[in-house]
Amino acid sequence: MISIKNLNKYYGDVKVLNDISISIKAGEIFAIVGHSGAGKSTLLRCINGLEDYSTGSLLVDNKEIKDLNKEQLRSFRKKIGMIFQHFSLVQRKTVYENVALPMQLWGYTKENIDKKVIELLTLVGLENKADSYPSQLSGGQKQRVAIARALTLEPEVLLSDEATSALDPNTTTSILNLLKEINEKLNITIILVTHEMEVVKQIAQKALLLEHGNIIGFDDTEELFLKPDEKMKEFLGEVEVVPNDGVNIKLYFPKDNAYQSFITTMARKLDMDFNIVWGKLEEVNTHIVGNMVINIKDDEKHRVLEYIKQHDIVWEIL
Ligand SMILES: Nc1ncnc2c1ncn2[C@@H]1O[C@H](COP(=O)(O)OP(=O)(O)OP(=O)(O)O)[C@@H](O)[C@H]1O
Ligand SMILES: [Mg+2]
Repeated sequence: MISIKNLNKYYGDVKVLNDISISIKAGEIFAIVGHSGAGKSTLLRCINGLEDYSTGSLLVDNKEIKDLNKEQLRSFRKKIGMIFQHFSLVQRKTVYENVALPMQLWGYTKENIDKKVIELLTLVGLENKADSYPSQLSGGQKQRVAIARALTLEPEVLLSDEATSALDPNTTTSILNLLKEINEKLNITIILVTHEMEVVKQIAQKALLLEHGNIIGFDDTEELFLKPDEKMKEFLGEVEVVPNDGVNIKLYFPKDNAYQSFITTMARKLDMDFNIVWGKLEEVNTHIVGNMVINIKDDEKHRVLEYIKQHDIVWEIL
């Protein structure tokens, strides 16, 4: 549904997006990840037509965004909802009025507005807060109001720019669960910008890693975490400390294999002892993936690798 090819974006002489080519499927939960200044928000704003791009192509539903005229852009934006880190609610309006705002601007009837607002406040679990003001709500509740407001015009895509960055971990999880529910129930494509790998792990099916406007990773989330390349490791801040003696082998366990006692079986079958240097299991997108580093003696390397190769396990020598 969204296809970006060789997109470049400059602010003055500074290139902030360099040769970005990605595609985002309808119904996907897609994460854009990177450190501050990487160009995440800029890319998001290009996608909803708030920001022009210098060269390259950005198609949404096969329409080139920079070719749209003002009127076309206005109706295009209707298809795209957006939520932000600081919620962007109108303080002097009630929850009801905040959610109703986009529909009022588009001239919906009072009856339609009423029906939709109640439906959406129920969806986000705030049906009892319609008459409250933003100042009377917690951060998580404010974000729920913002989510309801973003859904009023029945968008196809929901863009989220650091929507959970101002929230504590539990509230973050509850908002991410709500986004998942919206994705599934309403079949809305979700693109979320974040600098938190936890958010990516919890919700995203696919992720794009940006660094100084360049793509440094683009893959299914499980792949990114299961077998991170050098850039990804650097991003995650992982330093691999391993013994100097012997051979260190890193094993990657795919989702179905993570819990199997591969190591203990191998030790028994080969009648051999080895050290587990370190290991880690992680939940990515409701699947468990993991990796483990073992240390063996030099003269056992051949036998161990033979065994590993027979078992369809991804491995590398460190
Ligand atoms: N309106 C602007 N004019 C000039 N430069 C800009 C403008 N907006 C952003 N930039 C620059 O473009 C680069 C990318 O900014 P962007 O806001 O997209 O980063 P980000 O990844 O969203 O960062 P953060 O995590 O801090 O929100 C930065 O170097 C920033 O200074
Ligand atoms: Mg940003």
